[in-house]
Order: sequence, then C-alpha cells, then structure tokens
Amino acid sequence: MDKKQIQKLIEQAADQIKYCYAPYSGFKVGAALLTKNGKIYTGCNIENAAYTPTNCAERTAFFKAVSEGEIEFQAICVVGGKDGAIEMYTTPCGVCRQVMMEFCNPETFQIILAADIEKYKVLWLKDLLPMGFGPDNVKK
Ligand code: THU
Repeated sequence: MDKKQIQKLIEQAADQIKYCYAPYSGFKVGAALLTKNGKIYTGCNIENAAYTPTNCAERTAFFKAVSEGEIEFQAICVVGGKDGAIEMYTTPCGVCRQVMMEFCNPETFQIILAADIEKYKVLWLKDLLPMGFGPDNVKK
C-alpha cells in the first residue's frame, strides 16, 4: 500500500474519534478497515456500563463490514488515545486480533498503527498473533 492510501486510512480512522462512546475509560479509538475491493468501513469503540459488552473500534469496523457482505480484507488502521488525544500507537487487543484471524490471511493482512498522519507503523497480523488459531484449524 502506498503512503497516500495509508494516510487516507489514518484520516478516516481519526475522524471516528468524534463518535466514540467511552464514558468509562475516556480512551477513544477509531479504526478504518480496507476491503480487498477498496471499500473502507470505519468503527469506533462503544463502551457499556456493564463493562464486558464493550466493543472495540476494530470489531465495530469488522462487524459493520461483515454485516454488509464483505469478508475479504487488506488492512486496518487504528488510532486512539486518552480523551481522544492521539499521542502514541494503540495496538489491537487480543479479542480483536482473533476476530482479524477469522477473516484475514495473517501473512498478508496489514495493521497500520498511527500516532499522526506522518508517524505510522505497518505490521502484519502474523506478527501480532503468532501461531494464531483460525478457520483452517477447524476445517477437516
Ligand atoms: N479499545 C479499542 O477500541 N481498541 C483497541 O485497540 C484497544 C482498546 C477500547 C476498548 C475500551 O473502550 C477502551 O479502548 C479502553 O480499553
């Protein structure tokens, strides 16, 4: 992916910060998920008074996309920070990595962590979830 495409994803992920519902942690996260055919699905974190129903920004983006028939993905960009101030990289939690493992090839799916439009890091799912358990393990 070229720099222009990456920066577009960063912008879209950052734009989600305004929709975050994070009254408990104050930690706001935005995500932009790129499908293989070039569509972008965005997501924000949505917290809950009972805590465990909280949905991360990454899963919001995945579930929006899958619920509209998209199951092939190229990359996801994640931005976040306390009170929406994006100062450091926000890495996907373990549950989100597992959801990525369900739909994405760990060798090729890219995870873009951004702290700024110019400061970002591109990682692969295989690096964030080594020896991940996925659909291939369950198939006969
Ligand atoms: N969170 C995300 O949305 N994505 C991440 O990658 C890390 C954590 C959310 C969950 C919760 O609402 C808040 O950040 C603090 O953990």
